[in-house]
Amino acid sequence: MTEAPDRLQEARELVAADIDRAFDSLLPVPPDSRARLYEAMRYAAIGGGKRLRPLLVTAGCRLFKVDPARAVRAALAVECIHVYSLIHDDLPCMDDDDLRRGKPTVHRAFDESTAILAGDSLYALAFEVLAGDSTHEDPFVRAELIAELARASGPAGMAGGQMMDLAAGGGDLDLSGVTRLQQLKTGALIGWCLEAAAIMGRVPAEGRTSLRGYARDLGLAFQIADDLLDVEGEEARTGKRVRKDGEAGKETFVSLLGPERARQQADLLVGQAIEHLQTFGEEAELLRDIARFAVTRDH
Ligand code: IPE
Ligand code: IPE
Ligand code: MG
Ligand code: MG
Ligand code: MG
Repeated sequence: MTEAPDRLQEARELVAADIDRAFDSLLPVPPDSRARLYEAMRYAAIGGGKRLRPLLVTAGCRLFKVDPARAVRAALAVECIHVYSLIHDDLPCMDDDDLRRGKPTVHRAFDESTAILAGDSLYALAFEVLAGDSTHEDPFVRAELIAELARASGPAGMAGGQMMDLAAGGGDLDLSGVTRLQQLKTGALIGWCLEAAAIMGRVPAEGRTSLRGYARDLGLAFQIADDLLDVEGEEARTGKRVRKDGEAGKETFVSLLGPERARQQADLLVGQAIEHLQTFGEEAELLRDIARFAVTRDH
């Protein structure tokens, strides 16, 4: 049997290579004045990040024996949305960051207009990928994937969470307010990853409860780890500027609970996430590894 770190490491390398290859083939640079846009998209999308969301999709798809080539399409779609969200999150009008994934942010390496358009284009690409025949033969399955990803990305999901995040720092967010913010900002997209696996595996709604529970607890634990890294992490490892939340005076799990209790909370959530998988056997080991990685990571 493969040991946990190897199993996770192997799966991460595989999915990272698949995603890089897919972006590379989908984004050839055209010989006209759009070249800069494609180059910015490639710069942001290829060769960086933990690829956690793609990994969740492929690990979830394993539970239901979804064809791995199809799983990669869904994995690519969610990474498109994620990368777009990072490009826009870093803009001067948002978090105004210079460093992302260990290199200058897109608006720094290119310019603001290009960064906005690169984000817009990756957003659109996500849905184009899902709509393609090779994602699933059943158009109803494709439509459900698209509808759920749209919901998870929009005002009831990631974008809504970003809005709440911009408004944070006024001192009126308590723990349940921060939880709600994070569930939208980070949790919704992570939730889609597992939902996509269930949709492609044609799991009926009542069979999705445990996966939804896993995703909810994992998403929160993952965001607490992000907040902890902002306070305790090193830029050389995280590849992005640290101590930003404190400087901005934003309420986070860490500012409200203190680092020690925040870490305890993250560990507790990971335990709960893993418990949700108890109806699954060996086939869910990778999802269990991912949950542990979400809080033990240093980047
Ligand atoms: C960072 O996400 C932004 C959050 C939603 C917390 P990740 O930590 O997954 O970033 P990458 O993909 O590894 O760069
Ligand atoms: C951004 O959250 C989450 C997104 C939806 C992009 P943060 O602003 O905390 O992410 P980092 O810390 O810059 O990666
Ligand atoms: Mg932000
Ligand atoms: Mg940010
Ligand atoms: Mg952060």
